[in-house]
Amino acid sequence: MKVAEAKALTKSYHFGDTEVHALRGVDITIAEHEFVAVWGPSGSGKTTLCNLLGLLDDPTSGKVSIGEKAAENLRDDEKSELRNESIGFVFQNFNLVPVLSAVENVMLPLQIQGISKVEAREKALRLLDEVELTDRANHRPQKLSGGQQQRVAIARALVADPVLVIADEPTANLDTVNANRIIDVMRRINQTRGAAFVFSTHDDRLLDRVDRRVHLQDGEILEDERVSGAE
Ligand SMILES: Nc1ncnc2c1ncn2[C@@H]1O[C@H](COP(=O)(O)OP(=O)(O)O)[C@@H](O)[C@H]1O
Ligand SMILES: [Mg+2]
Repeated sequence: MKVAEAKALTKSYHFGDTEVHALRGVDITIAEHEFVAVWGPSGSGKTTLCNLLGLLDDPTSGKVSIGEKAAENLRDDEKSELRNESIGFVFQNFNLVPVLSAVENVMLPLQIQGISKVEAREKALRLLDEVELTDRANHRPQKLSGGQQQRVAIARALVADPVLVIADEPTANLDTVNANRIIDVMRRINQTRGAAFVFSTHDDRLLDRVDRRVHLQDGEILEDERVSGAE
């Protein structure tokens, strides 16, 4: 079963008279449980693709569907609902709420869904345990290292049981040791929880442990390679 699909996706941005073609016709299908790296240099279209697949932005042309639902037929509120119930996000800059503790940050997506505080807290603590941060649950982001903040963000992305996690350059602001640890944590959660992961990176050293590598260049897929023997 597929969790997400994009067909003939294009995205152009206008700067006065100039047009930037960020994506030039991308086809990609993400199957259940897949662990996919989208890699390419800065400016190749990774963020644009992540945002379109995650329904955070609309394509110039082409189609995106999540599960069996085609996004172009949905109103904005329906799109938000589909996004909230199906997709978790991890960003390069962690994007944690500074005035909330780690556990409160992880609880947020559940509280947006109207789940009680008690239940949300219980689930959030379980996720923090999975990313090995139980002892930091009550710390605010500024008291955490970058790697720890990103693990909180991963817990937050997973807490509402999405079928798909989209992580746009989750390791770009981390050193190599922490970057590898983030990939390990995502890979482990991918295996234990079964959510599909799409993560983007410009660092080809992180490609060892993925099932599939999608190489983007100038807004096009240069190669879409399935790797056998990944962990
Ligand atoms: N909001 C925007 N307005 C104008 N151009 C943009 C915008 N976002 C991205 N671009 C351009 O689109 C291209 C792809 O960008 P992006 O998707 O951010 O690539 P990557 O994430 O791989 O660095 C780049 O040339 C970039 O300058
Ligand atoms: Mg980017």
